[in-house]
Amino acid sequence: MKKIEAFIFDLDGVLTDTAEYHYQAWKRLADEEGLPFNRRDNEKLRGVSRRASLELILKDRPVSEEKIREMMERKNGYYRSHLEWMDEKDLLPGAVDILEKLKSKGCRLALASASKNAPTVVKRLKIGSYFEVIADGNSVEKTKPAPDLFLFVSEKLNLLPEKCIVVEDAEAGIAAAKAAGMATIGIGPPERVGEADHIYPGVWAIKLEEVL
Ligand code: BG6
Ligand code: MG
Repeated sequence: MKKIEAFIFDLDGVLTDTAEYHYQAWKRLADEEGLPFNRRDNEKLRGVSRRASLELILKDRPVSEEKIREMMERKNGYYRSHLEWMDEKDLLPGAVDILEKLKSKGCRLALASASKNAPTVVKRLKIGSYFEVIADGNSVEKTKPAPDLFLFVSEKLNLLPEKCIVVEDAEAGIAAAKAAGMATIGIGPPERVGEADHIYPGVWAIKLEEVL
């Protein structure tokens, strides 16, 4: 029987609610550009890279590469202004608890986020020391739903993918983990993470006896 040796956590929307900050930043940009965008559209952007997110917002509008870059930078500026105020109180309920529990059980821990801002967020939340490996939006070229980020992590851990379980709040993240051959825990509603092996409303609700 497969034995899980490592937990790979997504960051945004799993350990902290930066998903809301990403939404607010995209919404501000979309409003400035007169582009329709609402919370429902935003659900599709979870876990998706900055460029792919913008492409989803733009749909098939023709936009120059220069303008795309300018809009990505503008959105990132809005997003980063939210991070300035961030600290440990922005950890979601149960985040530290699950990391501590897993450590005490001898599980190995890693973080795999599609965000290029992940190192800043990890620092602000003061959770860096929990993880053996931290992979972010700079670690691989093809981000979620491609399996590359999770495979990068399992290689760094020197573990087979089947020994890893991924904790994700995004449809794209669950797809990426499955494509990597890893078990999955979905955080959020079944409409979003219904493809996961286990589904919980938040990390606080994860029952380790069900997943290990
Ligand atoms: C993911 C978020 O973690 O990172 C996405 O869920 C975001 O919403 C992506 O677009 C890229 O983030 P960043 O910080 O590199 O723009
Ligand atoms: Mg996420």
